[in-house]
Amino acid sequence: MASLTERARFLFHFFRHPIATGAVLPSSRYLAESMVEDMNLTQAETVVEVGPGTGAFTGAILDRVGPRTFVIAVELNPAFAAHLRTKYPALHVINGSAENLRRELMDRGRTSADCVLCSLPWAGFPEDLQHRILDAIVETLRPGGAFATFAYVHAAWFPAARRFRQILEGRFRSVVSSPVVWRNVPPALVYRCER
Ligand SMILES: C[S@@+](CC[C@H](N)C(=O)[O-])C[C@H]1O[C@@H](n2cnc3c(N)ncnc32)[C@H](O)[C@@H]1O
Repeated sequence: MASLTERARFLFHFFRHPIATGAVLPSSRYLAESMVEDMNLTQAETVVEVGPGTGAFTGAILDRVGPRTFVIAVELNPAFAAHLRTKYPALHVINGSAENLRRELMDRGRTSADCVLCSLPWAGFPEDLQHRILDAIVETLRPGGAFATFAYVHAAWFPAARRFRQILEGRFRSVVSSPVVWRNVPPALVYRCER
């Protein structure tokens, strides 16, 4: 669970960058558990977390990966990136945009990822940015690789969210929605996709 300091930090950055931060509070551990479910993290060689924020999912990811798994986190906000470097010294933290994911991975000697876990606030992004980031993610994932991202339930039936799901369906072999995670503020569901 996020500490009080992490919650305060998150709220502060929401007021500074509301669209990029996309939430007023870090996600709950229940949503973290749903995000990592069925991702086969134990077997993965390379795992990417996109938009880790203060690390609401990062601990759950690191708890499940194998001892030699390379875990990389791409975070746009420099303050969150600095926080993550201190909190998780074993994590490879990149302060930058997910649009450059493939190049960042190649710079670190990796040609593809087995899993990408992403918590970007898609609903606030213009469609061209959604496409650029999803292109970068799909190019990075190996065939058969797993992608997970979440949406807030109250927005899931809005036209923008339905369009986003269609975009996912156009890029991935399968897209499955999880049951609603009610113990999150606000409640959310996870889209699990296979490339
Ligand atoms: C909704 S928050 C999720 C944070 C955390 N994973 C959680 O669930 O509590 C979205 C995060 O994505 C980051 N972000 C926004 N745009 C990004 C981009 N283009 N590339 C990488 N990270 C980005 C934000 O800075 C923020 O930390």
